[in-house]
Amino acid sequence: GPVVAVVPAAGIGKRMGATMPKQYLPLVGKPILSHTLSLLLSHPRVDRVVVAINPDDEVFASLPEANHPKLSAVVGGGERADSVLSALNSIEDEQAWAMVHDAARPCLSHADIDALIEQVGAQGAILAAKVRDTMKRGDANGNIDHTVEREALWHALTPQLFPVKALRDALVDGLAQGAAITDEASAMERLGWKPKLVEGQISNLKVTHPSDLKMAELLIQETL
Ligand code: CTP
Ligand code: MG
Repeated sequence: GPVVAVVPAAGIGKRMGATMPKQYLPLVGKPILSHTLSLLLSHPRVDRVVVAINPDDEVFASLPEANHPKLSAVVGGGERADSVLSALNSIEDEQAWAMVHDAARPCLSHADIDALIEQVGAQGAILAAKVRDTMKRGDANGNIDHTVEREALWHALTPQLFPVKALRDALVDGLAQGAAITDEASAMERLGWKPKLVEGQISNLKVTHPSDLKMAELLIQETL
């Protein structure tokens, strides 16, 4: 089916602590969200893009990408999962696949989108990066309890690719049950799905803290 990119962009960027939501901070000449939307809009295998924006948003409409014929905008919700669900509810094609990608990840490469779409199976797929550091479980006193087996550990990245209908149902169920849904895969996992881990680049970082901006600035040069 067609691939619809879903971009949650309704957060307030609390951890960034800037005067505006982080998706509007400038990065090499344009706002972070402009980078993210234009990399999705320009990918030949992305048929449509739906972005979820904050109800108080006053910036989105002024972005050059806002009037792109492939793009539509919806109002997001209180949590990331609510924003994603709001976007999914606007997709009428029940055969479509949703490729959910954080607005705050402007350094995603077209090659990683290709890898995700090529390797997705019936159970969906996510981009992920193998953990490189030795991992420790800490105890309540801030001491090491033990070393965690690293071989099986991955960082979950976005995009995450699932059939629209199944993902919508899973998010509705997860939200109704008060489950911790930090990404799309976690909503599917609790229903027994086994999404594929597709190895992506760690350069696809989420801009979260102020120090991530410098890193993203260096990394974006590779993907431009
Ligand atoms: N997001 C959203 N709706 C929300 C919360 C988050 O669409 N209610 C989006 C953010 O805009 C971001 C992505 O989900 O693109 C990942 O979330 P995160 O990095 O946590 O962004 P914020 O929630 O804005 O940041 P913070 O948690 O520091 O407040
Ligand atoms: Mg958040």
